[in-house]
Amino acid sequence: MISWQPIIDDVAREVSPHIGKGKVAAYIPELARVDANHFGMALCTPDGRTYCAGDASIPFSIQSISKVFTLTLALQLVGDDVWKRLGREPSGSAFNSLVQLEQERGIPRNPFINAGAHVVTDIILSRLQDAKLKVLHFVRGLCNNSSVVFDLAVARSEQATGFRNYAMANFLKSFGNLNNSPDAVLDAYFHHCSMSMTCVDVARACLFLCNSGILPESGECVVSPALTKRLNALMLTCGTYDSVGDFAFRVGLPAKSGVGGGIIAVLPGHFSVCVWSPCLNESGNSLAGTAALELLTEKSGLSIF
Ligand code: DON
Repeated sequence: MISWQPIIDDVAREVSPHIGKGKVAAYIPELARVDANHFGMALCTPDGRTYCAGDASIPFSIQSISKVFTLTLALQLVGDDVWKRLGREPSGSAFNSLVQLEQERGIPRNPFINAGAHVVTDIILSRLQDAKLKVLHFVRGLCNNSSVVFDLAVARSEQATGFRNYAMANFLKSFGNLNNSPDAVLDAYFHHCSMSMTCVDVARACLFLCNSGILPESGECVVSPALTKRLNALMLTCGTYDSVGDFAFRVGLPAKSGVGGGIIAVLPGHFSVCVWSPCLNESGNSLAGTAALELLTEKSGLSIF
């Protein structure tokens, strides 16, 4: 069996020159208040072990990592019908780009760009009463931690400044690809993005992705093995913005990043790992977080390739 703790410790030590390099996302004003010098890492294995370094127990804003959880829930609710309203190709443009949406007549390229997540949120809103809370409870159940909360200051900050998201949701509505009002969709979407979780929480919550869709602790089936394969494929091809090719080249794992500086990555059959460091590189992925994941796959010799 691989000795993870010395590897994690080495990664944390070697990544330290990268911490604080890059820029904290400031377009959501509340995110700009975070200390840029954090670094945390947590790796969980399906046999119930967790290995940590640095600030692995400090909650951070998961932002677009929430798109993995909402897509999982939407797939549970409507299965393949999701793909009637959404593509599954990398976008090759920014996560908040409007241009492609106009050209492709309101069908977002994939569920991990903002417009795609709006459609996913719309699906959940149409199926569940009290959808915002149901998503929170779903995520709490995945990581077995009832103290996961919405950070209301972050949600309100984005509600007050998220003009591109408002434009996008209205655009989707004009193409007939939202059934609920843009305001209702965005209220839920901003709250999902604001979930505050630690690296340990996020890594635990994604263990089902490396365990054929089953939560190892309880044995509960979250999604089928076939859907798990698809979620991982989407993370590999669409999970890290328009630098997804470079990320696969460097790291070699399905992953999803968020502008809060978190990245979740999984190696099916082996582990889920979450890194967090708030400063982002030019593509919007955590700079130190990406470097840490690259070091992890190099040092362990384990990746999907
Ligand atoms: O909608 C936004 O811009 C943020 N709440 C989330 C952005 C993010 O993390 C990257 N998106 N794919």
